[in-house]
Amino acid sequence: MQEFLWGTATASYQVEGGIQNNDWWEWEKAGRIKTGDSALVACDHYNRYKDDFKLIKFLENNAYRFSIEWSRIEPERGKFDEKAIEHYVEMLEELKNLGVEPILTLHHFTIPLWFKEMGGFLNEESPKIFADYIKHVMPYFKDYVNYWITINEPMILSSLGYFLGMWPPGEHSARNTFKVSKNLLLSHMEANKIIKENRSGAQVSIAHHILIFEPDKLWNPLDGAIARFNNFILNYSFLDVLTTGKIPYPFSRGEFYSDLKDSIDFIGLNYYTRVFVKFSPKGLFREAERKMPKNDFNQYIYPEGIERVLVNLANRYGLRIMITENGIADREDKWRSEYILKTAESMKNAVKKGADIFGYMFWSLMDNFEWNEGYSMKFGLFEVNFETQERKPRKSAFTYRDIAKKFKNGLKE
Ligand code: FCB
Repeated sequence: MQEFLWGTATASYQVEGGIQNNDWWEWEKAGRIKTGDSALVACDHYNRYKDDFKLIKFLENNAYRFSIEWSRIEPERGKFDEKAIEHYVEMLEELKNLGVEPILTLHHFTIPLWFKEMGGFLNEESPKIFADYIKHVMPYFKDYVNYWITINEPMILSSLGYFLGMWPPGEHSARNTFKVSKNLLLSHMEANKIIKENRSGAQVSIAHHILIFEPDKLWNPLDGAIARFNNFILNYSFLDVLTTGKIPYPFSRGEFYSDLKDSIDFIGLNYYTRVFVKFSPKGLFREAERKMPKNDFNQYIYPEGIERVLVNLANRYGLRIMITENGIADREDKWRSEYILKTAESMKNAVKKGADIFGYMFWSLMDNFEWNEGYSMKFGLFEVNFETQERKPRKSAFTYRDIAKKFKNGLKE
């Protein structure tokens, strides 16, 4: 029996340090990080990865999801830094020696400055530009990697960056949000093709964020309608495109791309929480409050929700599922252990109901740079002292280790 993949997830900009050539660095310099923190050093994972991989072994994990940093690899358009590529090859080599399966993310939110100046994913040429990057790196990485995540949370990237203006480039434009979404989907399509050309049998997907939308008042049809609408647009439309090949209105004019059809081999699920939504004539909806426990990020603590999400995904797409992210911002480690235990229980229930789950990556291995929130949000199984770079296991690290051991062969009884 193939072992279940138990791992953790990180992303280059959040952990590596030493990156000054991307849009998030510029965003940071413009004073957009709420805490004033800088990712310039972060966890210094770029230099300390060998020690950090020992933490993976400590957790008795057999997988690790991480991302390569485009701005390091292609600092100028068409000019590739072979040393940066070599660095990631060394990481992959080290994981191989340790018997840890890599899950490689090719794009996790950040873009090189030269690409940003060309309009980033708004540029019509962006899928081709992204493809050129993937084409260049594939020969180096192909032999090491079975599981590929082309793009992390495309919907979050387009909505926070182009609709809500909360992330770079800070725009408020529905039109551009749809355009960027479409280009991200086409970029995935191109990347998938190149990966398969280089390695037939590779397993490719995106890491897709799913947020549960609950109607505020169950008896109110308008609340129900808005929850269903959000659910469709934010949770399912992208996966529908990646399985049917058809990009619907308002993302496009209903165009069909045969290379987009069935362009994911499994579903990569990032699940964290739920929101309650209430219809509002102004701006369509607003969030409703509940007297329920929340984490440090002001999100409801709802690990059980993953069961519904997994069962829905299994029924709708019939594909295997890897949980590519799941976790909780919890400074004091008050909730994390329980969150992990309830999640494992809920995954088991989902398996009983027919979901085929083959891996789980906890967010995150260690505390790191949480985008606009800087270092104020603590997602790590390992606590990081950002002065000394010391890593210390939290209690929940032991909980996760126990789960990984107990369910080494999967979640079937
Ligand atoms: C996800 C992101 C990841 C991290 C977690 C907390 O949406 O993919 O980079 O920030 O949230």
